[in-house]
Amino acid sequence: MKIAVLPGDGIGTEIVNEAVKVLRALDLDLSMEQAPVGGAAYELHGHPLPESTLKLAMDADAVLFGAVGDWKYDTLDRPLRPEQAILGLRKHMGLFANFRPAICYEQLVGASSLKPELIAGLDILIIRELTGDIYFGQPRGRRTAVDGHFPGAEEAFDTMRYSKPEIERIAHVAFQAARKRRQKVTSVDKANVLETFQFWKDVVTKVHKDYPDVELQHMYVDNAAMQLVKAPKAFDVIVTGNMFGDILSDEASMLTGSIGMLPSASLNAKGQGLYEPSHGSAPDIAGKGVANPLATILSAAMMLRFSLNQPEAADRIEAAVQKVLAQGLRTPDIYSEGTTKVGTAQMGDAVVAALM
Ligand code: IPM
Ligand code: MG
Repeated sequence: MKIAVLPGDGIGTEIVNEAVKVLRALDLDLSMEQAPVGGAAYELHGHPLPESTLKLAMDADAVLFGAVGDWKYDTLDRPLRPEQAILGLRKHMGLFANFRPAICYEQLVGASSLKPELIAGLDILIIRELTGDIYFGQPRGRRTAVDGHFPGAEEAFDTMRYSKPEIERIAHVAFQAARKRRQKVTSVDKANVLETFQFWKDVVTKVHKDYPDVELQHMYVDNAAMQLVKAPKAFDVIVTGNMFGDILSDEASMLTGSIGMLPSASLNAKGQGLYEPSHGSAPDIAGKGVANPLATILSAAMMLRFSLNQPEAADRIEAAVQKVLAQGLRTPDIYSEGTTKVGTAQMGDAVVAALM
């Protein structure tokens, strides 16, 4: 089993180190090769996604990814910015299905900014389409406006678009996922305003005919944002487009106590996957040894389950994470009075110890 390890920038290196530590402790036959990505790759090779890194990722069974980005690259031309690395990997590997589970661990009920009764027992799954929508739609750019409110003014534009097969395949993924859960899919759109999302809604409704055992609900994205903090447990699987999924998954992370807890899996049609925490590179705390490695460690568990066919090893990691939380160990992002504050490496060591 070949794993490409791409730590990236900011806290990426620290958190990926801990996940690698946990993977090594499992006694599986894993070969892990590391390569630079994002700003780190730009510094070394002049490009955020060098050929050699892309090749390593494409040839691997799975990719373990940290995070990319730093404010210091904000002035670079867009194709050279760190974020282009993750977008490039998603595009080149065809990683269209992004799974972002939001589970509230019993021990962290108090770490959320929401009332405990709203989130206790929460287990929802956001399925975000990851290779289409306004993120990748062409054309895009800057030009002089010929119409609109200010003809002749400088303007910028992006294109929101979805093709039928793109919507169909993510809808199938969502309905199939719901079959293994509580048989409910909420499709989030903006059909009241956007042509793209009226189409989205129509196509999802058609695909649903193959899944009479699953309940389908449609919801506008603004309402979904509200319902997520009002009654999050009413959701089971949420399926939505790339941009709405980006926003709603950050919102959902707060239901779990911290974005530092949220793993993710991005899969292509072949089952190859990229696994990364849902959070970013957090340059403000990078190098301080305080970042929460649990999202990355839980992403490694998803990798074992989805791409490497090692469900027992995945269970072991997830159980170990629960155990360290039960022991009261907390990185600063999930710390509350009466618990024990630990750093990144201590948390990783504790998970390794809890595996045994
Ligand atoms: C995410 C991130 C990325 C996205 C950025 C880093 C390009 O926010 O994975 O949610 O917008 O998809
Ligand atoms: Mg995001």
